[in-house]
Amino acid sequence: MVISLKPVSIENWYACTQLKVKTEQLDVFPAPVVYWIAESKYVDEFEVRAIYSEEELVGFLVFCLQPDKDGNHWIPAIMIDEKHQGKGYGRAAMERLMEWMRLNLSACKKIMIGHRPNNQVAERLYESLGFSKVSEEIVDGEIIRLLKIE
Ligand SMILES: CC(C)(COP(=O)(O)OP(=O)(O)OC[C@H]1O[C@@H](n2cnc3c(N)ncnc32)[C@H](O)[C@@H]1OP(=O)(O)O)[C@@H](O)C(=O)NCCC(=O)NCCS
Repeated sequence: MVISLKPVSIENWYACTQLKVKTEQLDVFPAPVVYWIAESKYVDEFEVRAIYSEEELVGFLVFCLQPDKDGNHWIPAIMIDEKHQGKGYGRAAMERLMEWMRLNLSACKKIMIGHRPNNQVAERLYESLGFSKVSEEIVDGEIIRLLKIE
């Protein structure tokens, strides 16, 4: 499977806004892609990427180029379009992103990600990639997870 993370550009930004999660997932992933693209125009550290399988657009993600005040690089959002879920793309995109962050962000020693407590697919996926719960505390509606990079 060839998964790539490409910049969001004049060519693909509209197609990105047409990516959708399943209706029943809106309670765990409420903000549409267009919201994240808009926020990235005003939050300097937000980087957005389109997720492709070969030449097909299948998803979208957001990560932070700069760490927060505690040295954590956040991944604020990742989604795979409803038509393409369950095919391994989410896991492959996370692995690709984590590899990119390790190689290209020299100061990146801690990656953080959050998910709603009832998002069991995200919970299992992040846990299996090495993201451990920071605590049982729910912060802004989310469980926070941390991956330490050696
Ligand atoms: C979470 C999400 C990104 C995962 O992407 P995906 O491409 O569907 O997931 P994958 O096919 O790579 O599967 C990842 C793991 O989840 C499991 N999984 C995927 N869909 C599942 C489902 N509906 N039920 C149970 N397990 C599921 C897979 O079996 C796989 O486990 P394995 O690798 O141990 O076999 C995707 O489901 C999604 O976009 N959800 C809505 C948005 C969201 O919740 N984003 C994350 C919170 S910010």
